[in-house]
Amino acid sequence: MTATAVRCEPVTAATHDAVIGLKVLPEQKDFVASNKRSMKLARKRPEAEPLALFHGSELVGFALLIPLPDTPGAVLLERFMIDRRAQGRGLGRLGMRAVLERCRADGRTTVRLSVVPGNRVAIGLYRSLGFGETGEVEDGETVMELTWPDTDTDTDTGTGTGTGTAASPDR
Ligand SMILES: CC(C)(COP(=O)(O)OP(=O)(O)OC[C@H]1O[C@@H](n2cnc3c(N)ncnc32)[C@H](O)[C@@H]1OP(=O)(O)O)[C@@H](O)C(=O)NCCC(=O)NCCS
Repeated sequence: MTATAVRCEPVTAATHDAVIGLKVLPEQKDFVASNKRSMKLARKRPEAEPLALFHGSELVGFALLIPLPDTPGAVLLERFMIDRRAQGRGLGRLGMRAVLERCRADGRTTVRLSVVPGNRVAIGLYRSLGFGETGEVEDGETVMELTWPDTDTDTDTGTGTGTGTAASPDR
């Protein structure tokens, strides 16, 4: 599969139950809420964008984006997960790139997230894609951000600035 092999699509009635069926490993349960809970949150927030991540025809993950109303152009990546059966195959990296590409195509200039400090795999992945720690801690979680310049004409995903560091688009 190529680097474009993961795509994100809005969760629909047809994919809802399968999305809820995606699970992380038992030792990862403290890192992310269940997708059932996340979909409940999404229903309460009309501006939320729950996204199903597909690798070919296989549903492999889930992301939840929520625009930040007080910061124009900013969106919160509230949840991100790859199903336990699909992890370790490079799909988390490809899934994040698909989510970032979507954010950028939608005109977002900042993606914000928070991560449990012990979640070294996720932190390493985010850093490698250009996210940087903001220095804030929210509910015990480390806040990270990726910002693109408003006038950026580069079409690659991992070229964040500000709190983040530049990342190779091939990673
Ligand atoms: C974090 C998560 C999305 C990564 O998904 P994934 O499909 O396993 O990730 P990938 O296979 O794309 O690997 C991404 C990087 O992490 C590394 N990695 C993945 N699993 C690893 C492990 N168990 N130990 C060490 N490194 C690991 C890979 O080597 C890769 O780095 P590289 O590209 O420099 O080689 C996945 O582990 C997950 O869903 N975890 C539970 C939920 C979670 O923590 N979400 C984030 C909340 S903020």
